[in-house]
Amino acid sequence: MKVLVTGGLGYIGSHTCVELLNGDHDVIVVDNLYNSTIDVKDRIEKITSKNITFYQEDVCNAKAIDKIFRENKIDAVIHFAAYKAVGESVKLPIMYYENNLLSTLNICKVMLKHGCNNLVFSSSATVYGLPKSLPIKEDFPLSTTNPYGTTKLVNEQILTDICKANENFKCIILRYFNPIGAHKSCLLGENPKGIPNNLMPYIMRVASNNLKNTNAKNEAYSKLKVFGNDYNTPDGTGVRDYIHVVDLAKGHLKAIEHFDKLKGINFYNLGTGKGYSVLDLVNTYEKVNNVNVPYEIVKRRPGDIDACYADASKAYNELGWKAEYDIEDMCRDSYLYQQKYIKDHGDV
Ligand code: UD1
Repeated sequence: MKVLVTGGLGYIGSHTCVELLNGDHDVIVVDNLYNSTIDVKDRIEKITSKNITFYQEDVCNAKAIDKIFRENKIDAVIHFAAYKAVGESVKLPIMYYENNLLSTLNICKVMLKHGCNNLVFSSSATVYGLPKSLPIKEDFPLSTTNPYGTTKLVNEQILTDICKANENFKCIILRYFNPIGAHKSCLLGENPKGIPNNLMPYIMRVASNNLKNTNAKNEAYSKLKVFGNDYNTPDGTGVRDYIHVVDLAKGHLKAIEHFDKLKGINFYNLGTGKGYSVLDLVNTYEKVNNVNVPYEIVKRRPGDIDACYADASKAYNELGWKAEYDIEDMCRDSYLYQQKYIKDHGDV
């Protein structure tokens, strides 16, 4: 298939491009480089020894997207491009709603115009809000606690309505749990700009800050702040379903290869089905990589829940997908990626 990947140079997008190319699909990337860099294109091409077609455009620019469709016969779209920082979305809701909703509306409008009927949408476990029980199934009630989450939920509703109104239009909604890890080549991974909000990138910074042979000394990374140890979980710290980003990427490959068998809108959880606490992740990272991650317990982060992990059996039964990598693989690959990054750039 010829697949258009929006946000294809981002963390999940880039790993997905690799899997698509390895699966012999043609890849066209549209990315405005808001949260990515152009060298990621070269890295994807180096890993796969294949070329991608690249457009530096904003998905909110309908004319630019229309031009891409005029120049290429696109069979399917995987739509990653979006803002994704929860805290920022609380401060800048208009920016989040405008970007994350307009981009999807544009993509769908242009797809319908050009008779492209296969869309994979990048959603999140955040749409389950406070889950009624665990593990989480796709038919659980939906709710959100922040504008970022609401953009995901509203996008899901928009896509549901578009599928209802256009009988040939098919949509696969993938609800990601917590992606971590990096490509085994160490050429792709997550290295957020500024102080990270998410747990794994923060653990990585603290660990490298504590390694004597790096120049990454920074007071912000002297200790990990563990947000609360009074949750209703085995060790009191928050439990999440961490999934290796390469497994997640493979889920997208399975999705586009199943459009023939599906109709209308379809929702799938992409997780491992296993929950690990903050301290589980810290201890595993320390053990696997032989490093120290000093931490202190601080108060809860507003909006966090006790525990969240997937029932991923629907993706297995219908798409033939399941996660292969375990938590040790995730910790090792994150670390190796960061070490290579420090070697190449001199710092994180
Ligand atoms: C968050 C978002 C989710 C988004 C995902 C992206 C919320 C409510 N959810 O998930 O919508 O899709 O990021 O990956 O914000 N923690 C610490 N110290 C830290 C950072 C995190 O103790 O410095 C803890 C948190 O309290 C939580 C766990 O680590 O228990 C995971 O946090 P994080 O990596 O931020 O992911 P989520 O909050 O699960």
